[in-house]
Amino acid sequence: MTPAPTFQPLLDALPYAALVVDAKDRVIATNDAATQLLGWQAQGLLLVNVLRQPDVIATLDAVRGGADQSTARYLSRKSEGRVFDVVARPLGAGQVVLSFVDVTAVEEAGQIRRDFVANVSHELRTPLTALIGFIETLQGPAKGDAKAHERFLGIMLDEATRMTRLVDDLLSLSRVESTERTRPSGLVNLAELMGTLKEYYESQGNDHTIQLDVQTAQTSTVGDVDQLRQVLSNLIENALKYAPDTPVTLRLEGPVYARELRGEALKLTVMDQGPGIDPIHIPRLTERFYRIDTHRSRAMGGTGLGLAIVKHILTRHRGALKIKSALGQGSSFSILLPAI
Ligand SMILES: Nc1ncnc2c1ncn2[C@@H]1O[C@H](COP(=O)(O)OP(=O)(O)OP(=O)(O)O)[C@@H](O)[C@H]1O
Ligand SMILES: [Mg+2]
Repeated sequence: MTPAPTFQPLLDALPYAALVVDAKDRVIATNDAATQLLGWQAQGLLLVNVLRQPDVIATLDAVRGGADQSTARYLSRKSEGRVFDVVARPLGAGQVVLSFVDVTAVEEAGQIRRDFVANVSHELRTPLTALIGFIETLQGPAKGDAKAHERFLGIMLDEATRMTRLVDDLLSLSRVESTERTRPSGLVNLAELMGTLKEYYESQGNDHTIQLDVQTAQTSTVGDVDQLRQVLSNLIENALKYAPDTPVTLRLEGPVYARELRGEALKLTVMDQGPGIDPIHIPRLTERFYRIDTHRSRAMGGTGLGLAIVKHILTRHRGALKIKSALGQGSSFSILLPAI
């Protein structure tokens, strides 16, 4: 039998966990990564006693039976939730090398994609179901009823508008994601941008007053003006929607030291005096489709993508979003952007 130490330098040189078993399934060599993965030093033990996962044991028989390679999934018991692809390859004389590649990240990405598709489908199906229902009613029971026609067509327009908004937001999210790796290069005057948005939203016939509070002479930073306009619009629209009939304040301050950015930052805050947010929701607000009151938000045309878009744009700008709120005390959403 080949003496075990021959394998050792090779196993030690590998960037992932690996071990060799002899013809009797006894572990004859392992590397440090394998010891960490399994939770103990396996050398000299039978493989079945080391990892009690029948699928992995079955790979040994498969390669001894003539297969070039056999693979299995290994769910680590030691590091909870981690998933590995195990590849077995024959070394001759019944010996087999097993290597463990960590595929947790790939698995998680797949799960996120599946959740995303499920969410999008659900969000699109709701208005579509409503549209089909109204069309059937117009063709059937409400045929010739002019009043019903007018009312139903109004609802149908709302539902179709919602779908358009959802698709626009999704496109905008994917555009932001695709630019995330390139840093913006323009120079943006934040005070000017805030002023333009204040005028715009006041002209929209809201009952809100929007106060502008610029507390600094340093008003410019490097950024993408269209994206920063979108960030501010999303925050202002939320304030107008979820804190109706109360004043909204837009404040610019800085430079202040921001721990999140490990440096000086300009701080731009959108504040309202609305109902506030229960702190348990705050960490999840920037998740796609996350809404506190799904029904209420949907009734107001919300899709739950606004803050996800904000977060991605700020990531591209090497900035951060800070949310402060408590029930009954209004909300303040601050964006931190690196000062220049
Ligand atoms: N200023 C605020 N006051 C109270 N709740 C808020 C405020 N801003 C956001 N929220 C809550 O956070 C949730 C997520 O906001 P987000 O902007 O991501 O989505 P949305 O407004 O529902 O939809 P969209 O922005 O895509 O139209 C909202 O549904 C709402 O429940
Ligand atoms: Mg919103």
